[in-house]
This record gives sequence, C-alpha cells and structure tokens, in this order.
Amino acid sequence: MLAPLLFVWPLSIAFTHYFANNVANFPYDQALREHVAAIARQVKLVNGKPMLTLPASARALLRADETDSVYFHVITRDGRFLAGDKDLPIPDLLAEMEIIPGEIYLRDAEFNGQDLRFAYTYLAEPEMPKERWVVVEVAETTEKRNQLANKIVASVILPQFIIIPLAVMLVWFGLSRGLRPLTRLRKTIETRDPGDLSPIATRRVPEELEPLVEAFNEMLERMKKNVEAQQRFVADAAHQMRTPLTGLKTQAQFAIREKDPEALRHALRQIATGVDRAGRLVNQLLTLARTEGGSEPAQQRHEPLDLAQLIREVVEEWVMVAIEKGIDLGYESSGPVMITGNAFLLRELAKNLVDNALRYTPTGGHVTCRILGNFSTVMLEVEDDGIGISEEQAELVFERFYRVDDATTEGSGLGLAIVQEIAMQHDSKASLRPNPRGRGAVARVVFAAWHPPAPPPPPPDDFSELYRQSPPIGP
Ligand SMILES: Nc1ncnc2c1ncn2[C@@H]1O[C@H](COP(=O)(O)OP(=O)(O)OP(=O)(O)O)[C@@H](O)[C@H]1O
Ligand SMILES: [Mg+2]
Repeated sequence: MLAPLLFVWPLSIAFTHYFANNVANFPYDQALREHVAAIARQVKLVNGKPMLTLPASARALLRADETDSVYFHVITRDGRFLAGDKDLPIPDLLAEMEIIPGEIYLRDAEFNGQDLRFAYTYLAEPEMPKERWVVVEVAETTEKRNQLANKIVASVILPQFIIIPLAVMLVWFGLSRGLRPLTRLRKTIETRDPGDLSPIATRRVPEELEPLVEAFNEMLERMKKNVEAQQRFVADAAHQMRTPLTGLKTQAQFAIREKDPEALRHALRQIATGVDRAGRLVNQLLTLARTEGGSEPAQQRHEPLDLAQLIREVVEEWVMVAIEKGIDLGYESSGPVMITGNAFLLRELAKNLVDNALRYTPTGGHVTCRILGNFSTVMLEVEDDGIGISEEQAELVFERFYRVDDATTEGSGLGLAIVQEIAMQHDSKASLRPNPRGRGAVARVVFAAWHPPAPPPPPPDDFSELYRQSPPIGP
C-alpha cells in the first residue's frame, strides 16, 4: 500500500500548487485593476488628444508597495509612449481584436528577468480610429503572489507529513491484526501430521475464510476416501498375490522331494501354470492402476475411431481360443460406427468382456459380439449362452476381486473392474445382465456416437460469379 501512496503524493502537491496559484492571484489582481482604474480616471481625452494629470501623491502610492515593484505607463495602441515608466516594454496590442474601451484586461509578461502581472484598459472617444486608442497599463512583480501561493501549499502539505506516516501505521496495524487468523490457519496446516486427513476446525476461523476452509475440508474428505480405497486395494492385491505364491512354494517343495521323472515333470508343469496365473494377476493390477491414474499420455488421448473395426480386430484375436474351447465366436455389425475414445483402453475393455464370455460358457456354447448404432449412441454387446448371472450378482461383479464362484473357476476378479473404469473414462457405464433371449449373460457398454463437424459451404464458383456480373453478350 506504500507504493501507491508514494505515487499519489507528488500528484497531490502538483494539484495543490496549481490551485494555490489561482487563489493567490485573485485578491492581488483585484488590487491591480483598481490601480488601472485610478490612473485611467486621470487621463482626459480632449478632441482625441490625451491629457494626463497624475498628482505626485498618486505616483508615490503606486511605488509604496513593500515587496513588489509596481510600474505603469500610458501609451497609444499603435505603440507611442505618452507618460509613465519609460523602460517598461511597449507591447504590440494591435493584434488584439475583441476590445472594449473601459474594460480591464489582465496578462503575464517577463521584464528584466522578472515575472510581471499586467492589468490594462483602453480609453477612446466615439469617432477615434482603433489604433489611436489610449492604453493605460499597470504592472507589478509577482513576489507577493508567490509568497502567498507557497504559504497555501505549505499549509496543505505540512500536515500530510504527519497524516501519511500515521495512516501507514494504522494500515499496518489493521492489516496485521486482520490477517492474524490467516497466519494462525497457516500455522495449523503447517504443523499437521503428514498423514492427518481430519477436517480443520472452523471454530476460530473468520467468517470470510469459512467457505475456503469448508472447501478444503471437503477435499480432505475426498482424499481420505481415496487413500482408504487405495490402501484397501493394496491390501487386497497383496492378499491375492500371496495365494498363488504360496501355491507355487508348495509345488516347488513337492517337486524337490519327487524321485519319479514323470511326476516331477507334472509338478513342474503345475508350477508353470501357477507362474502364468500370477503373471496375469500382476498384469491386471498394472492395467487397473494405469487406467485409474491415466498417467500415460497415450491413454489420455481420446480421438474419433471406428468401434466396429476395433471390436472386429479383438474378436479375430480370440478366435483361436474359442476354437480350442469348442465355442462358436461370432461378430455382428452394420458397418462403421464412430465414437471418440482411446483405442488402447477400448481394446482392453473388449478383451476382458470376450474373455469372460468364453470363460463362463461351456464347450458347445455360443458367444456373439455385436455393435449396434443409431444416430446418437453406439452399443457394444457381448452375449453368451453360458452359466449366466443372477440379478443380485449383476452389480457386485464389477467390484474389485469379487468372484461369484471362486472355488470352481479360475480368475482374479479384476476383469470387470477394469471394464468399468475404462467405461467411466468414456463417460459411460458397463452392465452385465441375464440374457433376455434365454441362457447366459449379456454385457453392454453404451457410447455417444461421434459425427464429423459439418463441412464449410463450398466457395462460390468463380466463373458463375463472373458471368453474373458481366453484361449479357449478344445483339
Ligand atoms: N459372461 C459372464 N457370464 C457369467 N458370469 C460372469 C460373466 N462375466 C463375469 N462373470 C462373473 O463375474 C465375476 C467377475 O468377473 P471379472 O472379469 O471381474 O473377474 P474374473 O473373470 O473372475 O477374473 P479376471 O480378473 O481374471 O477376469 C466372475 O468371477 C464371474 O463369476
Ligand atoms: Mg474376467
């Protein structure tokens, strides 16, 4: 706040100086006018000839000023000297157009390096030519005026020397008092435990800061939920990892003791399968963490793509698996359908849905991937006629590590959680329902369709424009 004050101060001095000069001029100008009028009364025009009868006492009166020098002269308008102080410069008054005899005018001029203030008036007879008019001028130096102006400026500025420091002190005091709650709040936050996510007490917080603290507390609440979810996830993940690792250890110990080469090979095969399973779990955990974080730029980029084409490619990749399991894997679509999305993530989503459908459908079953599109939406559907899902389980299966039948089928329970996370990043929601057409289940994800922006209207055809403007050719 000091900087603006320091800028305003010189400005205020300049203004004060200007107005003080105006005020100081006023009474002294008035006195000067009276002098002019007094001398003009002593000048008589007789048949156009000026006669000056200034008593000596009047001259003495003019010279009586203590501070300033006063001069006067009587001249004709075209510059002839008649009476008064000889060395006072004779001005060129012929240029002045709007003049009225008897009116008193004021002007400033310089004489011998001194500033002079002039009051002057014209005397004339009715028939006299303008250049012969008589001019009476009285001038005085500006010492008195300057002194008065300086006094006015000083009387305005001097109190400011006291008022401004006082104001600064008051502002300082007020601000530091007003900001004290903020400092206190800062200290509270600074001295907090790194892991402390409990809300900040709003009890001693000033009214203006309350919304801020409340918003901050809400953020803390969200963060707390997030951290809890993460901790739960890490605990679950560790637990899930432990099971296959324990299995591997047991199998390895078993293999060490084994003498029969055939049985040893069997044990090693089981170890290989166990390693595969653990590897898949690690991959899924990574996928989920990456999808949630969305940290890699390749995963954040959403761009228009043909979903039908993408699903077709995924289905082609899974054909061999389907054939091995003896399942009829089909693909249906009615041509390209555009959505905006991330190809990498959408492929991951489709892979998990197809994997589930193939995994939970026995040999001889059917799995169909379908793309249905209308103007505003595009629906991905993966239908199977496998073991199906009950209405109660339909919501639960999207939770992490949740599996309906953990004992008889294999898996980590992360597939649908990944699907849901990716769907959410595409402003959508995935669902798994009992198949309305009979046995099995249907997984669905609905996306918003994308349409290319309308092309700009074609530029006017130059030739047609030319023809329209030129006059018709012909007889
Ligand atoms: N098409 C389906 N038909 C019947 N049940 C299903 C189907 N898809 C998923 N489920 C049920 O939902 C559960 C969760 O599926 P999710 O894909 O999340 O995990 P998972 O398949 O068990 O393991 P993974 O993480 O290896 O995919 C499954 O255990 C299964 O019981
Ligand atoms: Mg799965």
